[in-house]
Amino acid sequence: MQKIHAAITAVGGYVPEYILKNSELETMMDTTDEWIQSRTGIKERRILKGEGKGSSDMAVAAVQNLLEKRGIDPKEIEMVICATTTPDMQFPATANVICDKAGMTKAWGYDVSAACSGFLFALTIGSQFIETGRHKKVIVIGVDKMSSIMNYEDRKTAIIFGDGAGCVLLEPNEDGYGLIDSVLRTDGSGRVFLHQKAGGSVKPASLETVMNKEHYVYQEGQAVFKFAVKNMADVAADIMARNNLTAETVDWLVPHQANKRIINATAERMNLPAEKVMVNIERYGNTTNGTLPLCLWEWESKLKKGDNLVLAAFGGGFTWGASYVRWAY
Ligand code: UT7
Repeated sequence: MQKIHAAITAVGGYVPEYILKNSELETMMDTTDEWIQSRTGIKERRILKGEGKGSSDMAVAAVQNLLEKRGIDPKEIEMVICATTTPDMQFPATANVICDKAGMTKAWGYDVSAACSGFLFALTIGSQFIETGRHKKVIVIGVDKMSSIMNYEDRKTAIIFGDGAGCVLLEPNEDGYGLIDSVLRTDGSGRVFLHQKAGGSVKPASLETVMNKEHYVYQEGQAVFKFAVKNMADVAADIMARNNLTAETVDWLVPHQANKRIINATAERMNLPAEKVMVNIERYGNTTNGTLPLCLWEWESKLKKGDNLVLAAFGGGFTWGASYVRWAY
């Protein structure tokens, strides 16, 4: 009998309506459209507006998009893993909220916290439940409302992030399609370069932490950039070597969208031409956990059964990794 792989059999996505263009950022901070585009490749990003709206609301819209496309009843879903850095609240897990709001009443689930690599990590975790035969339908979500932790006075950081959600359905496949291999890494010593200073157990929220703006993303961009360029390219090359993939046999690179220059460096290392690289950073910026599934969502109609996809990400932690997926439909 063939090994059971976890195949991606449907994709859903959602981006909020409000478009925050570089020109609007110019009115909020000392920056220019020219600087942002040339240093990052970003032209605009989406922002979730509205009192009481959180990551779960975007995730529910993405899940509903997926379920409607496939004609699946929410009650058929057995497990939901939500990768997010901006959960609705510290607890309970946003996955639980999503299950409730989307009517996935038979599912259990939890959140994965691995910053920009969260979706990739969650994809591997979800796949285990399919590969072992434990579950037949698992939804993996990547979602972030980065605007909720963004200091719009910090021009070095706020310009790159946006809000959005994407998700995939995993089902068993015995014909060799699905998640074939993953290389996943963490290095906690990198936490000093990218983190949120307060709001956790080390430094609970207080008047002082709020006054000091310690609930926003703190990023030392240049340091993160150097690690990201090297590690994302290394791990992408690694997954290719382990699976005997070449520039000719890889059909698509699905890269985390943090900076166009990091994407280019990874594609160059893999020897891939631009037409094999999914890039939507110019419209959405860095949606953290949302970037990879949003790429799959936008490129879904171009993907063909048997296509070889390399997914690659790098983010806070540090966390990074790459996965090899053989597309199933
Ligand atoms: O997804 C999670 C992982 N995160 C990443 O992968 C992000 C990695 N880092 C980056 O993408 C880049 O470091 C940034 C886009 C965040 C920043 O770009 P950079 O080329 O590294 O800029 P920098 O911070 O080195 O700043 C260069 C110059 C500085 O001016 P001086 O000191 O040389 O006079 C900054 O003050 O550019 C200035 N600068 C800006 N100028 C206009 C920084 N941000 C801006 C801005 N507008 N928004």
